[in-house]
Amino acid sequence: MTLSEVETLAAKCLVNAGLLTQRLQSEEGATGPQADKVTRDLRLSLFEAAQSLLQSVTPPEYALTQQLSGSIMDLTAFRYLSRFSVAKAVPIHGSITYEDLATTLKVDKSQLKRVLRYAMTKRIFFQTQSGEVAHTETSLLLVKGGVSVLNSYSSERGFPVASCFNEALDKWGHGSQEPNETAFNVFHETELPMFDYYEENPASGAPFHQVMQHFTKTPALSHEHIKTAFDWKSLSHTTVIDIGGSLGHASVAILESNPTLSCIVQDLPKPVAQATNPTTSIVPEHMMKRISFQEHSFWDTQKVAADVYFMRMIFHDWSDKYAVKILQALLPAMRPGAKLLIMDYVTRPYGTLKSGDERRMRMRDMQMMIMHNALERDEEEWKNLFAQTDRRLRLVDIHTPPGSALSLIELVLDGEADVKAEAVVLESPVESEKVGIVVGEKIGKEVVVTVTSVAAMEA
Ligand SMILES: C[S@@+](CC[C@H](N)C(=O)[O-])C[C@H]1O[C@@H](n2cnc3c(N)ncnc32)[C@H](O)[C@@H]1O
Repeated sequence: MTLSEVETLAAKCLVNAGLLTQRLQSEEGATGPQADKVTRDLRLSLFEAAQSLLQSVTPPEYALTQQLSGSIMDLTAFRYLSRFSVAKAVPIHGSITYEDLATTLKVDKSQLKRVLRYAMTKRIFFQTQSGEVAHTETSLLLVKGGVSVLNSYSSERGFPVASCFNEALDKWGHGSQEPNETAFNVFHETELPMFDYYEENPASGAPFHQVMQHFTKTPALSHEHIKTAFDWKSLSHTTVIDIGGSLGHASVAILESNPTLSCIVQDLPKPVAQATNPTTSIVPEHMMKRISFQEHSFWDTQKVAADVYFMRMIFHDWSDKYAVKILQALLPAMRPGAKLLIMDYVTRPYGTLKSGDERRMRMRDMQMMIMHNALERDEEEWKNLFAQTDRRLRLVDIHTPPGSALSLIELVLDGEADVKAEAVVLESPVESEKVGIVVGEKIGKEVVVTVTSVAAMEA
């Protein structure tokens, strides 16, 4: 910490505070859930500046003592608030006595009061002049879905799992790349990787899927970025294979970008069943003819030869050992010139981001390590991954759409891949929700199959 650094950061805070005040005094400015984007952005800039200032002046021993104890108590208080649904029992307008709140929640009044008074030090709830409990802007978020889902998952599940990291190292040694030798496995006493465990224990997986659903609604992971990440209009009348495409959210965004395209979404049986069930399908009626769903595990050799493959948020869940296997299973179906579009996190070189962004990026990377023995990759690590897989997989471009947490990594296959296998060649774009595979012709080791729509078969 230098004096000039502190002064510069303090000046930045003052400037940002001035801009935010001006905005709040104008007709458009409002705080709380009604705040518009400009006001939110100004507040965030002030927050980032204030955090940098705080970090630069935090006494070293605080970082190692008070802040650590604070983290433990934060999580403990959040677990309690979440477990006993405290926020929902506090009136949205007005206030409630500690006594009445404890009676409603059937908890001990003294314990409730002490947890709440700790939470209040973080502006989560406040105590009114008459000594009652009322909501703050922050505690109100715990009443609704969205943030509260993430908050309860992090405190109830994420924290206890993460605390088993050292035990996983004790059990399986350092540097394991296996997805079933993690803190998750220690905590759940299972030999299954997380995704398999959740497939077998849907009740346990439900909060995780709710959190994922919440993330898709955050601006940084909005599906709108899929539309600008790649020039979809540069493709014409072709089929995009969306591998691990879940319910087809990304494919819908792709099809909205270019009406001449079709998509085949591949995933495990359960997501495919959910995607094709009319009560849980998210595909708009008018797009049904252009999206089909197919059960396919990305560990198995890809069976559909297409011009474009798309994989969003797949690789960051797997260590290099397994990411290479996923790519190797896809390559045999790729023809020379076929594109692979990967939309995933690309970490930035150390120290090049604002401190808040750096911290968020490192948190995600820790999360991948704890849950899957996986990682968030920087550009070099992505390049190494492709080089390990096949020398003809050529990196064309990596870029990040403005405001997106994910980058688009564009690859093309130069020449035939090293490994060849049976593949279905798409000769026309899919035009129906059902894929009709009608013609099969064996050429050497490959089975060439024409895929036509059910509509075309009926004609
Ligand atoms: C993090 S989600 C990403 C979903 C989607 N691509 C998106 O961007 O919203 C990972 C997806 O991979 C799927 N998945 C996991 N294992 C798979 C496998 N072996 N084969 C195919 N898909 C798999 C999951 O079911 C899930 O839909």
